[in-house]
Amino acid sequence: MEIKKYHVKLKLDNILFRNCEFEDIPHVMYVNRATLPENYSRYTFLAIWRLYRDMFFVAIDLISDKIVGYVMNKVDTGPSFFDKRKVVSKGHVFSVGVLKEYRRRGIATCLMALAFKAMKQRRLHEVFLEVRVSNIPAIKLYEKIGMRIIGRIKRYYADGEDAYIMAALMDDVIDFAENVIDYLVKNSKVVLSNG
Ligand code: ACO
Ligand code: ZN
Repeated sequence: MEIKKYHVKLKLDNILFRNCEFEDIPHVMYVNRATLPENYSRYTFLAIWRLYRDMFFVAIDLISDKIVGYVMNKVDTGPSFFDKRKVVSKGHVFSVGVLKEYRRRGIATCLMALAFKAMKQRRLHEVFLEVRVSNIPAIKLYEKIGMRIIGRIKRYYADGEDAYIMAALMDDVIDFAENVIDYLVKNSKVVLSNG
């Protein structure tokens, strides 16, 4: 299927999306280790899950019954990226990853759409993240769904690489997210535990 306006291609045979559950955490940690050098303790995953499980999603391959992707998010309070005079609560995309064999099928696009919708439900007006300046696949993904580079942090990563800060106003990305989620709901590809 194709959502023309956003040029989104989804090839999701036997993939299901749902909120992350407690029992999923070890499997999410496995996908995180397999996909990113930024790894976190079980405690960190659990702390994020406890506080922000409404914004924590997994993609499951129904054939192997394995978690193949995840996105987890937090809320940060600080100066708005779009109006420096304001202090706001912002959705912070903390980590997203999809196993190599499952890439370029739209899985990360769907995970990000679910994250945006959950942020909107929390009345967050902006969303941001950090990404390695060399991480072209991720930067392209974020640009495709409406995020823009708005800053750069020198030596943000442990190995000395810089990060771009990418951000968007919720109003500018929510149409895309709702289109993707409508498709997922209509095609029984998503189970949402929080309504
Ligand atoms: N090269 C160029 N563009 C790409 C690539 C790539 N390798 N991968 C994705 N894109 C762009 C394309 O425009 C793509 O649309 P298209 O396939 O129609 O051309 C669009 O992004 C959507 O791609 P998806 O299929 O939704 O993305 P995917 O499920 O493959 O996951 C991800 C992308 C998460 C970046 C994956 O490559 C991955 O897990 N990488 C390693 C982990 C990582 O870098 N995570 C992000 C770190 S930053 C952070 O977590 C905040
Ligand atoms: Zn971050």
